[in-house]
Amino acid sequence: MNHLSPTLLRIQNLEVCYGPVQVLWGVSLSVNQGQVACLIGSNGAGKTTTLNAVAGMLKAKAGKIFLKEEELTAQPPRERVKRRITLVPEGRQLWPKMSVEENLLMGAFSPGFRKNADANLARVYEMFPRLKERRTQLAGTLSGGEQQMCAIGRGLMPDPELLMLDEPTLGLAPKAVDEIFEFVRNIRSQGVTVLLVAQNVNYALEFSEYAYLIETGKITLEGPSAVLLSNQYVQEAYLGSA
Ligand SMILES: Nc1ncnc2c1ncn2[C@@H]1O[C@H](COP(=O)(O)OP(=O)(O)OP(=O)(O)O)[C@@H](O)[C@H]1O
Ligand SMILES: [Mg+2]
Repeated sequence: MNHLSPTLLRIQNLEVCYGPVQVLWGVSLSVNQGQVACLIGSNGAGKTTTLNAVAGMLKAKAGKIFLKEEELTAQPPRERVKRRITLVPEGRQLWPKMSVEENLLMGAFSPGFRKNADANLARVYEMFPRLKERRTQLAGTLSGGEQQMCAIGRGLMPDPELLMLDEPTLGLAPKAVDEIFEFVRNIRSQGVTVLLVAQNVNYALEFSEYAYLIETGKITLEGPSAVLLSNQYVQEAYLGSA
């Protein structure tokens, strides 16, 4: 168990299917308030499925999802955003023909958020001055790193308490990867709790405090990230050291 500070997100025995095919088999994990937790695992292990289930994009066949003491399992995605859970999806999924600013504003779609959209937009621009400079540029013409910034910025528009990042550095050059992790550090220092899925296991473990390893839809290992980093199995299977 992950129990250093109060629990913000708790997933209990989550099972998820795509049609007849079950891909999550009783996933349990928790993320403590103010923490960066990471979920690592190979391609197809179930990382994206887990995040999408927390965001409410996928239904649970069994199991429960809680934010603090409140059960979210049956709530639609917009209710989860209202409870300040946001997901920055794999592949960024920006609207390429819309401007940076229009993309950001799409993160504040519901009336409750629209009220605060100006303040949130100002906060996002303060964090990402490069997005401000490029506010009128079409998102599809941004560099990969800038697109990721824009996707993270959109995820910050509802002023999240829990920000989930699915492979935020995929396909980026090392310098852009450093930059994105620097932003995540900054976001975290503002008190936002982060659940990170990262293909770069080394980075994810160095960056987070607690980690879960998922293999074919089951959590097979968990612990403080530093412990997983020095775990022989993790080193051999995921960090490429013999
Ligand atoms: N829409 C879908 N329909 C059917 N099967 C799916 C669908 N999305 C994912 N799957 C399957 O579910 C399993 C878990 O996929 P998921 O995308 O959660 O993996 P992942 O850990 O995020 O992998 P990656 O590191 O490649 O992103 C895989 O076997 C995948 O083929
Ligand atoms: Mg994935």
